[in-house]
Amino acid sequence: MESWILGLFVFLFLASAKTSKARNSASFYSNYYVTWGFDHALPINNETEIQLTLDQTSGSGFESKWRYGSGFFHIRMKIPDKNSTGVLTAFYLTSRSSDHDELDFEFLGNNTAPYTLQTNVFANGQGGREQRIHLWFDPTKDFHSYKILWNQHQIVFYVDNVPIRVFKNNRKMGVNYPNQPMQIEGSVWNAEGWASGGKRTDWNQAPFKAYFREFDINGCVLHDYAVEKCYSSHFWWNREKFWKLNPKDLKAYEHVRTKYMYYDYCSRYSKPPPECKSNQ
Ligand SMILES: *[C@@H]1O[C@H](CO)[C@@H](O)[C@H](O)[C@H]1NC(C)=O
Ligand SMILES: *[C@@H]1O[C@H](CO)[C@@H](O)[C@H](O)[C@H]1NC(C)=O
Ligand SMILES: *[C@@H]1O[C@H](CO)[C@@H](O)[C@H](O)[C@H]1NC(C)=O
Repeated sequence: MESWILGLFVFLFLASAKTSKARNSASFYSNYYVTWGFDHALPINNETEIQLTLDQTSGSGFESKWRYGSGFFHIRMKIPDKNSTGVLTAFYLTSRSSDHDELDFEFLGNNTAPYTLQTNVFANGQGGREQRIHLWFDPTKDFHSYKILWNQHQIVFYVDNVPIRVFKNNRKMGVNYPNQPMQIEGSVWNAEGWASGGKRTDWNQAPFKAYFREFDINGCVLHDYAVEKCYSSHFWWNREKFWKLNPKDLKAYEHVRTKYMYYDYCSRYSKPPPECKSNQ
């Protein structure tokens, strides 16, 4: 009971903590470019923000100019409002190779809060690691921060600085761990069917508009050297502080798992995959 209350306190503290950094004003084009749905992508606010639109003719997406071998990636975004059932807004890292690595934030459209955030982890082509939480706020109303930490010790997904998912490097247990250069991607597309419990997207509600901001990138760019160079403690996100959650973050993470997670792939198995226990 006591620890539950402490968890709630820490959780609220983290959720309300604002980043101390000055407002981020990197231009979209400094690190990213539009890859598809060119006439459905609109840079605004002096290119510090991009609006992606989905209608019956197309969605749209962008990706980073470079590939990364580690980092603490972030974006601020606002997902489409109105009844967006069937619409999927995504922010993710992917290696795009044949046996690919991928780390996904996927926001499922809905008519009203609570909205579902699904995360997934692919390593060496193997995915099927979906987890779903109900967000504790309405992500269509305002910008919120979404981050992915990726170093050689752990991968952590954060929502407004609250850890919502941990995937540890469990290679010792024989679990594959993402180690291929990945690009950062953002998109909005029609995922009616799987993202909507079989319901069709209501095109009378279109256009669906998603907004992304903060385009600076804390990552190890792979220009001409091996990915191993990205594991150096020269990069701050590889330092010991980021090898595991601190006690405060751990409490907040446990709180999310108890209160907001409603689906975990681990529960599909009578004998869960080896990583399940250690990631909880
Ligand atoms: C727009 O951004 C550029 C740099 O990307 C900056 O030099 C310029 O002052 C900005 N303009 C306004 C009106 O903020
Ligand atoms: C959509 O919202 C309803 C509440 O109106 C909620 O019960 C349901 O879980 C939500 N569905 C998804 C996929 O988030
Ligand atoms: C939202 O749209 C979905 C898909 O078209 C539909 O099934 C659902 O009834 C709509 N919800 C409301 C409250 O209108």
